[in-house]
Amino acid sequence: MRKLMILVTVAALLLGSVALVRPDDHERERERHGSESREEHGHRNGQGWFDGEDSVPPASDPVYRETCGACHFAYQPALLPACSWQALLDGCADHFGASLDLAPDELDALSDYLTANAADASGTEIGEKITDCLKGAAPLRVTQVPMIQKKHRKIDPAVLRRESVGGLQNCPACHMDAEQGDYDHARVPR
Ligand code: HEC
Ligand code: HEC
Repeated sequence: MRKLMILVTVAALLLGSVALVRPDDHERERERHGSESREEHGHRNGQGWFDGEDSVPPASDPVYRETCGACHFAYQPALLPACSWQALLDGCADHFGASLDLAPDELDALSDYLTANAADASGTEIGEKITDCLKGAAPLRVTQVPMIQKKHRKIDPAVLRRESVGGLQNCPACHMDAEQGDYDHARVPR
């Protein structure tokens, strides 16, 4: 990549100012295309993770990943309904005993992202199952969703207390592809 940039710069210097503008435009063009295709994947495309019964779209929003993935796994928006996410944001001054210091514009951006991709808005199979089982309730925890509890009811509480697991809320401890939104595979660590 760096080599390419050097080549492009050299070419630009040789070709003059018109060429100098070009690499930038290309870069921007590529970025726009990139985010467009990701967006399409997340909302419309019926391929890959989106198709899987036990898959949710990955938490792709950089603000969300950074602010809500700092202390724990960045739970995918499709794991809770919009009203749960909004309640979590409204209560950010006392977030399970932690105080989240979020600026108003950050809160707005998080609210937009989370509610637009929530269980009841995601159009995913898990999202639908979660919404149905909640019957309008708005839990603050993914681990309080009856469908999620049911899926894990056979796991011994002693296993969940293992240091290597760290509780049911630590999804990636057992779901090695949790980061990608894939909950199809699980391996409980010793
Ligand atoms: C300062 C650290 C911190 C940050 C930053 C943080 N959280 Fe948390 N979060 C916690 C703690 C502590 C818990 C409770 C963990 C426990 O009970 O084991 C928690 C729990 C949760 C849970 C419940 C998990 C479950 O199913 O048990 C959700 C959902 C959640 N946070 C969402 C968010 C969102 C959304 C953001 C961003 C707005 C965020 N968190 C940012 C500390 C943080
Ligand atoms: C202690 C390990 C462990 C943790 C932590 C864990 N899971 Fe699981 N999960 C499993 C196992 C094992 C299964 C398979 C259960 C079965 O086959 O009946 C499973 C199944 C699932 C399924 C259903 C998949 C299927 O094929 O039916 C979903 C969805 C899921 N987990 C989501 C989550 C989420 C979300 C979290 C975090 C909030 C989480 N899990 C945390 C071990 C874990």
